[in-house]
Amino acid sequence: MRINKKLGIIITLGAMVSICAAAASSKQATVQYVNLKVLPKNISTKDLQGIMVDDFQDGLGVTCSFCHANAKDGHGLDFASDAKPEKEIARVMMRMTLKINKKYFKQKHPVIGSDALTVSCNTCHKGEAFPEGGPEQK
Ligand code: HEC
Ligand code: HEC
Repeated sequence: MRINKKLGIIITLGAMVSICAAAASSKQATVQYVNLKVLPKNISTKDLQGIMVDDFQDGLGVTCSFCHANAKDGHGLDFASDAKPEKEIARVMMRMTLKINKKYFKQKHPVIGSDALTVSCNTCHKGEAFPEGGPEQK
């Protein structure tokens, strides 16, 4: 359920961001992320972390370094870098997932609500980077 909720946040924010961009104020603590192309640029740290950890890390059964390249100075990861192809594939997957939800899951289920009818990374991946059992796991 947490995963679906998080994706709900992406969808809601995605839909609202164009409308509310001008009205957005920064009451919440936010970090300035420098290379967001799918997520709203003013996303809160809490929401971004939730997506990275619950949807991506847990949904694919990988760690941050599956998509994020090492920092040039050798200390930790450079989260803004697009050096790893997996990061761009993940963006394609994000756009696909948002599109599926927007196009086919608009209607709310009368009993269980909308969350139960949302496709997330985990819907296909189920904790695996390669849902079709492709190359060996990293
Ligand atoms: C499945 C791939 C994937 C995994 C795993 C992943 N990320 Fe990301 N991350 C992305 C993508 C894609 C973006 C860019 C999203 C966009 O363009 O809107 C991103 C963006 C970010 C950013 C914003 C960088 C900036 O300034 O633009 C941070 C910070 C971040 N990730 C942290 C993490 C952390 C911490 C983890 C591990 C807990 C993690 N990510 C795991 C794919 C991943
Ligand atoms: C409709 C099903 C579906 C959904 C939803 C989905 N994926 Fe995928 N994803 C796939 C399939 C199928 C592959 C190809 C696997 C293979 O090559 O064996 C794949 C591959 C990937 C890969 C590439 C792995 C590699 O190195 O080849 C990444 C990264 C990825 N998905 C991230 C995501 C993220 C992040 C989300 C959620 C935003 C997501 N996917 C949602 C089906 C899905």
